[in-house]
Amino acid sequence: MRGRRLKHETVVILDFGGQYTQLLARRIRELKVYCAILPHHASLEQIQALNPQALVLSGGAKSLYDQNTPTADPQIYRLGLPVLGIGYGMPLMARDLGGEVVAAGHREYRPTTLRVLVENELFAGLERELTVGFSHYDRVETAPPGFSVLAATDNTPVAAMGNRDTRQYAVQFHPEAFHTQQGTDLLKNFLYKIVGLSGNWTPAAFIADTVRQIRETVGPNEQVVCGLSGGVDSSVAAVLVHQAIGDRLTCIFVDHGLLRKDEAAQVMETFTRLFKMKIIKVDAADEFLGKLAGVSDPEQKRKIIGAEFIRVFQEEAAKLGQIDYLVQGTLYTDVLESGTAGTMIKSHHNVGGLPKDLKFKLIEPLNHLFKDEVRRVGEELGIPEELVWRHPFPGPGLAIRILGEVTHEKVKLLQAADAIFIDEIKKAGLYRKIWQAFAILPDIRSVGVMNNQRTYAYTIALRAVTSQDGTSADWYRFPPEVLDRIANRIVSEVPHVNRVVYDITGKPPSTIEWE
Ligand code: XMP
Repeated sequence: MRGRRLKHETVVILDFGGQYTQLLARRIRELKVYCAILPHHASLEQIQALNPQALVLSGGAKSLYDQNTPTADPQIYRLGLPVLGIGYGMPLMARDLGGEVVAAGHREYRPTTLRVLVENELFAGLERELTVGFSHYDRVETAPPGFSVLAATDNTPVAAMGNRDTRQYAVQFHPEAFHTQQGTDLLKNFLYKIVGLSGNWTPAAFIADTVRQIRETVGPNEQVVCGLSGGVDSSVAAVLVHQAIGDRLTCIFVDHGLLRKDEAAQVMETFTRLFKMKIIKVDAADEFLGKLAGVSDPEQKRKIIGAEFIRVFQEEAAKLGQIDYLVQGTLYTDVLESGTAGTMIKSHHNVGGLPKDLKFKLIEPLNHLFKDEVRRVGEELGIPEELVWRHPFPGPGLAIRILGEVTHEKVKLLQAADAIFIDEIKKAGLYRKIWQAFAILPDIRSVGVMNNQRTYAYTIALRAVTSQDGTSADWYRFPPEVLDRIANRIVSEVPHVNRVVYDITGKPPSTIEWE
């Protein structure tokens, strides 16, 4: 059955290379408006193909007076669409529309007090004085014809400008940045009051739209396969596809024996009992551990696991007969990183995933979503909270958290310590404040004393970090009593462990994982 086409509102962000562009996209989506990021040089056809209701010009890292500065086709201002220029987007808009811009000569970057000069829609309902985040090289001296000056700072006489008739506005500061006061309200004014959007981009609307698209894509006799890992991305992707085509989807879950404690059982329980999906579980722990015997080099471990994973997956897929599509949990950040609307995934993140050259067409239902949106969609689909909010987990699993050779005993020991760590974090109500928390088994033993007996046993290291996306991270400051409880439980409940240490390095210079 074909659903009625559900049209969601769309905003196009032209990206001039600013550090805040992704954050800007998130902010707009938090206001329930779908937005897509296109490169600044996108053609008018590319922009119009998305049928946007408004354009936003992002910040950029340059001055208009540098060489090779990013520009946009000046015809974008003639599309009849409301435009909001931000940061670099403001002098660019001013210059393109006939205003006067001078190079400020240096990069200003500091919280600054902004004064709103006249009543206007963009600042409606906001304070008359606001602290805003400035970051720019150029200054608008004279606003273009038809524009009014809306706000100023002590050093910047034109800090915001607008043309009510053409609905073109620009602000020299960054409303999307954390340190800008009422920045979200300003974006909301632009989207809701000036453009007139209603905010119809919700998880439910996304699901309805995506399910319809998948039904239109996959033919009635075509078969689809999905590699389920237990992580949130592949889980949400699989449930979406299952909603669309039911049993024409088969999931393959390769249990390499290197998952967290009880994780494999939970995955099976969720998807077979709750969602009644067709899943083939491959118990391949012995094969994986056999291949890893005697190997202690981290890159070698990754290669072995990656290759073995693909081999097992392909073997199972081949048993299914004709397969037409493969479901991948690619996210919008992966697409943006590759610079095109492709499916590139950071090479090391693809370890434990599938290569691109498998002979299937791809279904990537999440490739327009950020991670937090995937989680909201997962909740809306009824996927249990535990799975939706589970911390990220690397494809090679515990193999890269056991330093040195991986053995069955070490996996068991680490699973037990890790489960206690996570259990105590959850009991303390801290799980969602932390990006990733896990135990590591370093390849060392040290002396201890227990019941008046000398022990010589393993050390468990604990790692917990906060992060936006894993590219940089800070170590998490636990209340000491939580660490105390965790250490006590680990040494008393996990045999062969007599010492617990906590990793207090950030990334950089460390990485999140230890291998
Ligand atoms: P690092 O250790 O590089 O980790 O700071 C950043 C993020 O990537 C995850 N990670 C991996 N994910 N295969 C994966 O699928 C891997 O080989 C791999 N290595 C690291 C890590 O857990 C963190 O979220």
